[in-house]
Amino acid sequence: MNRSDSIVILTGAGISAESGLATFRGPDGLWEGHRVEDVCTPEALARDPATVHRFYDERRAKLAQVAPNAAHQALARLDREWPGGLLIVTQNVDDLHERAGATRLLHMHGELKSALCAACGAAAPWTDALPPASTCAKCNEPRLRPDIVFFGEMPYQMDRIYDALENADLFVSIGTSGAVYPAAGFVQTARAVGARTIELNLKPSAGSALFDETRLGPATRLVPELVDMLLR
Ligand code: APR
Repeated sequence: MNRSDSIVILTGAGISAESGLATFRGPDGLWEGHRVEDVCTPEALARDPATVHRFYDERRAKLAQVAPNAAHQALARLDREWPGGLLIVTQNVDDLHERAGATRLLHMHGELKSALCAACGAAAPWTDALPPASTCAKCNEPRLRPDIVFFGEMPYQMDRIYDALENADLFVSIGTSGAVYPAAGFVQTARAVGARTIELNLKPSAGSALFDETRLGPATRLVPELVDMLLR
């Protein structure tokens, strides 16, 4: 790698696991305790908004009890010190990357600490509980919903993500099962442009065979090691 190279990093729930936030598909995963169809689809929101809002209220409240871990801190250091291109694309809706200091960051699946108006599309910072039919400050409609990309909805900023992938020299996937597209396909886009591809995970993922290299272990060990190597 040279310092003008461009790096794209994809993170999933595994990078926040050691901070105490549940993943989706592991033991005690969120999808073990809830059906996606009940809490993470537009149909669920229309059918039973109270249940959907409560699911995200509980996860939003949990953020106050957790802190960024060494993996988030290492990516924030890379963000500060890497002179070349860098984009951290997170599937996570927690705020741990920001709280660690990352700035070249985007949330492709939305954010717990944001409320979205289903009427006018405005998003607003939100830290407390979000009762159904809360009123949008911009358009005054009682249509605020969690600013979460539900299954069946289009992830955010896909153009910016693909632009970064198509110019990447290195693609690193951290703590994701590779179960959900389009994120699970990013490694193929990176490979197609000749980027080096590395996966960091506790165990092999659905896409491991697609990576040049898979390093197995906890993110709090592997991510600082990788950043140390890149900044050496
Ligand atoms: N260090 C590294 N990896 C870890 C750790 C850890 N300490 N703990 C768990 N992992 C890995 C698991 O091995 C698994 O591959 O993190 C991954 C978590 O997988 P999922 O629970 O499926 O989470 P994620 O891949 O982020 O899910 C993708 O699915 O439900 C949707 O929108 C939701 O963004 C989410 C998307």
